[in-house]
Amino acid sequence: MSEFTSKIRTIQWIDTYSRMVDQTKFPDKFEYVDIKTGEDMFSAIRTMIVRGAPAIGIAGAHGIVLFAQEGIDKFNTREEFSSWLIQKAEYMKTSRPTAVNLMWACQKQIEVIKSSTSDKAGLIEELKQNAIKLENEDIEINKKIGDYGAEVVPKGATILTHCNAGALATVGYGTALGVVRSAFAKDNTVQVFADETRPRQQGARITTLELTMDGIPVTLITDGMCSYFMKKGMIDMVCVGADRIAANGDTANKIGTYTVAIAAKYHNIPFYVAAPLSTIDTTIKTGDEIIIEERSHEEVTMINGKSVCAEGVNVINPGFDVTPNELIAGIITEKGILRPDYKNSIKEVFQK
Ligand code: MRU
Repeated sequence: MSEFTSKIRTIQWIDTYSRMVDQTKFPDKFEYVDIKTGEDMFSAIRTMIVRGAPAIGIAGAHGIVLFAQEGIDKFNTREEFSSWLIQKAEYMKTSRPTAVNLMWACQKQIEVIKSSTSDKAGLIEELKQNAIKLENEDIEINKKIGDYGAEVVPKGATILTHCNAGALATVGYGTALGVVRSAFAKDNTVQVFADETRPRQQGARITTLELTMDGIPVTLITDGMCSYFMKKGMIDMVCVGADRIAANGDTANKIGTYTVAIAAKYHNIPFYVAAPLSTIDTTIKTGDEIIIEERSHEEVTMINGKSVCAEGVNVINPGFDVTPNELIAGIITEKGILRPDYKNSIKEVFQK
């Protein structure tokens, strides 16, 4: 097992609260923060103390347990308690709009609320157990993704990744970086090129940190450099994570991913997406239906608290983009690698 995953859980339920690695502090500090109320969890997701699609899914599930603990004495009947809690779960889904794992995990908790026949205290226990189950499953799923993905990593490959789809974007092990970890375990000549990933620099701040902690060679590049290195023959494959995948395979991931995919296609380099099935949203036909998060202008205008542009300049800051399915060589899931035509392969994998 990777050193990182054996020691660190990005997010974990502890008795009555949620403990998570504070991702706003990287790379200066590696600190945990304990979240003890539902409102604080909503804000931890929104402010990206916890980030990455699978990790915010688990955070949402924890947040609903926190709300349940707070609400137990507010309602006389179990019915009133349940309907209030469902409203809180729907609210938790709105803490960030693009990553569907958040809605998926909150929905799993809503199903528990709706199907439970226990009293209020019993329901809280069931919600807690369900959250812990989702946590544990996340690591198992990521290891399966890693093992399937490792099969398509060429010997001695240099893998380009964008943003952070690692242990710190999940409970542990990671999706795209899970593929890297599994490939590296088989062949320690594999290495990574990490895009810096403006504006929040998840590649620089987080991907380089966790790969370095695991002793996996990583080279940091700025986002605009990827085609330069592709042309030089220095990139063998691209592997990225995903925030939402439509029924036709169109994939939303961190802003800049689409540019990498176009460059990879031009240079004939396979572009893979690694994601659990919970990231696939079969309710939407194409990527056009994916809501793209708009983030604060300061993320673009400021670096380390200092303005880097003319005062008052116009700014647009979408957090994600959508890579069209025709640019994707395969979607690596816990049930194997899905190949084009994605409309069919996605349909089939959900029928298995
Ligand atoms: O805005 P973030 O940091 O939450 O965005 C994260 C990404 O885009 C990841 O690539 C994606 O969530 C996959 S994480 C396994």
